[in-house]
Amino acid sequence: MTKRVAILISGSGSNMVALAESMTGDHPARPVLVVSNVPGAGGLAKAAALGIPTAVVDHRPFGADRDAFEAELTRVLEAAEPDILCLAGFMRILTPAFTARWAGRMLNIHPSLLPKYRGLNTHARALAAGDAEAGCTVHEVTEELDGGPILGQARVKIEPGDTPETLAARILPWEHKLYPAVLRRYAAGDRTPVWMP
Ligand code: GAR
Repeated sequence: MTKRVAILISGSGSNMVALAESMTGDHPARPVLVVSNVPGAGGLAKAAALGIPTAVVDHRPFGADRDAFEAELTRVLEAAEPDILCLAGFMRILTPAFTARWAGRMLNIHPSLLPKYRGLNTHARALAAGDAEAGCTVHEVTEELDGGPILGQARVKIEPGDTPETLAARILPWEHKLYPAVLRRYAAGDRTPVWMP
């Protein structure tokens, strides 16, 4: 049976577009909803242009009350009856109650070679450490921030003169290859990691 995928974004949504455009033909999943916590996020218009229903759950009116924000997010998500949630540049930390609810059904893409550099400023931290390579990781989401089982990774060489910006620009196209490849496997029930290139 075709799996229903909801994609959560906060920004430009380029990974969301890559995922959505991959879910055609014999793909075992289809996009059913794109949700943003940021009103006006660039990805919302892109999702609408692709014909995907969109929703906004702005976190700001909830202040520090993460439970109330997530209750509203859950209500919006449940209405779309998703089988899988894909976090794609969704920049909110999730509570253990939320991650438990979606355990085994929620993926994230993170711009580092996990377990290195959980959290923010990943490319700057890889450069500061003098690493020879950087990359991106798709993983299952658990209550541990950027800590769930790894489902795929793409590696790029760090070149002399790289900045966080040049590195991000070189890694992003790999994100757009890796995430769809992992989702296709995952939606088919195969959790074997994808290694790229
Ligand atoms: C991507 O690089 C993604 O890996 C990163 O945000 C960017 C979103 O871009 N995610 C995180 O940093 C999660 N902690 P996009 O909106 O164009 O897909």
